[in-house]
Amino acid sequence: MCGIVGYVGRKRAAPILLEGLKKLEYRGYDSAGIATLDEGKLHVVKRKGRVEELVSAAENLEGNIGIAHTRWATHGAPSERNAHPHSYGGVAVVHNGIIENAGELRAECEARGETFSSETDSEVIAHLIAAAFRGELLAAVREGTARLKGSYAIAVLCEGAGNVIAAAKRGSPLLVGKGGGSVLASDLPAAAAFAEKVYALKDGEFALLTEDDVRLFGGELKEIVRDPLKFDLKEEGAGKNGFSHYMRKEMAEIPVSIANSIVDLKAQSRFLAINIVLCQTYYIQIVACGTAYHSGVAAKAAIEALARVPVEVSVASEYRYRDPIVPKGTLVIAVSQSGETADTIAAAKLAKEKGATVLAVTNVAYSSLTEVADVCLLTHAGREIAVAATKSFMAQLAALYSIASALADIKGRSAPSLVSLPALAEDALARSERVKGWAQAIARSKSVYFIGRGFDYAAALEGSLKLKEVSYLPSEGYPAGELKHGTLALVGEHSPVIAIIGDEKVADKTMNAVFEVLSRGARVFLVTTVEGLGEGTLPKEDILTLPACEGVYSPLLTVIPLQMLAYETAVLFGLDPDKPRNLAKSVTVE
Ligand code: M6R
Repeated sequence: MCGIVGYVGRKRAAPILLEGLKKLEYRGYDSAGIATLDEGKLHVVKRKGRVEELVSAAENLEGNIGIAHTRWATHGAPSERNAHPHSYGGVAVVHNGIIENAGELRAECEARGETFSSETDSEVIAHLIAAAFRGELLAAVREGTARLKGSYAIAVLCEGAGNVIAAAKRGSPLLVGKGGGSVLASDLPAAAAFAEKVYALKDGEFALLTEDDVRLFGGELKEIVRDPLKFDLKEEGAGKNGFSHYMRKEMAEIPVSIANSIVDLKAQSRFLAINIVLCQTYYIQIVACGTAYHSGVAAKAAIEALARVPVEVSVASEYRYRDPIVPKGTLVIAVSQSGETADTIAAAKLAKEKGATVLAVTNVAYSSLTEVADVCLLTHAGREIAVAATKSFMAQLAALYSIASALADIKGRSAPSLVSLPALAEDALARSERVKGWAQAIARSKSVYFIGRGFDYAAALEGSLKLKEVSYLPSEGYPAGELKHGTLALVGEHSPVIAIIGDEKVADKTMNAVFEVLSRGARVFLVTTVEGLGEGTLPKEDILTLPACEGVYSPLLTVIPLQMLAYETAVLFGLDPDKPRNLAKSVTVE
């Protein structure tokens, strides 16, 4: 993870870099740092904690050229010492990625008498470039990075190299831009905020930024001419819009996010490529991580029910290392909000190597995943800033249900219409305000169990992840029928159970599990789309009835109150749900 930014131009670099870091803070926020070159001398300021901590410290930093970093720790604890930029021998480096042979390279540097000032894997990059520097920074960066194994996007400043920033990319995202100076950044919104034209670097490429120009180079340092990206960032509303937190604001955007992401794939010619792929599809593998994996679990249930096409869903980090069997004609759907999740990208690459067609479902055009995929279906959740995925999960479901519906049509089956779902979600959102009352009991519990069966199982998994992520309460999502095979031993007075019943067909069966946990002393909160369910069994205030909905699509509704519950519990604990401890929005390392 981590976010990097660089600027060289006619303005003071520090304010621009700090602004860029604030945009990239979703990528990591355990420490931050900035380096500028002023009259040829390097000045470095770093702080543990959020970018805000760096602002006053970097106030007096002069210079029209600089690089900066916001960190999510991989090697070395979050501390000022381990914060980037790392400098050695007049070279300062910011790095996003992981250097897998850092230990070996560090030992080499130490053997020739060099000393290190951090425990990071990144510092060795500054050492390698300093050793290779003979007046030409780009050549030194090429020579230094040739030794690296792993992933990196780096930006480098060097005393004695003039007013230039050199950059290199392999496996981590990096964009460069020009217009009003030259910039580089880890994502498009941060780069586009300071540049008119933005270019995406590909793996193995380099860039050289000067006040007037940005030049791109291939592996042999041969200059490359590339078209700028076409983008429209109008939808990138960054404010909280009157809400206390991004997470809550983004939940308010769920109905729009669903509406914008439902597509009639069969009806529009722009989806021709996807249609061709779907027409040839008889077996699907879905790969994803975290919340995106849960949307995959929901999609498996929907695709199998509606189109009767078999689907296997895998956590991407498992898929990539288990030598998966990919039969001829397999369609692999890689789901990722950011399009930058290292494990998902690696799984997609592996699937391609094994002959699969890869369809990316992602919220970010021009992301690394879109580069790997054969075809791409964009979700339109808009920018999601809170670390906990909310509206992007709903957008993924909307897109995946659109695929399920198109596939059903291709297979000569009928699927229920998706058009009423945004309005139903709007209604569910309004009704979900009530779970604020439940949060009091949840906050007093030791652990929380979410149970669901069939379509509701994906909702249980996602509800549990959300609660863990923002409230830090131990929690588990479980198939309702499986509880009695072990986990029931953990259920009792201090372990409430959230039962999810969005599929009327299995209502009685899941209610059996409800009776089982009630008789073991647990309080049960019921989230259901089935009118009247639970009445007479549970207190009225412990039942949340959502609008009626086709069971197959019900996670689009039932997950909303679960997100709300997680949010309200975090707020009750006085936690910041937008930036949970130890986490980052985009997991670009494995
Ligand atoms: O960007 P991606 O969808 O690939 O991210 C995958 C997970 O890292 C992500 O969903 C994570 O689990 C969220 N923080 C959950 O809220």
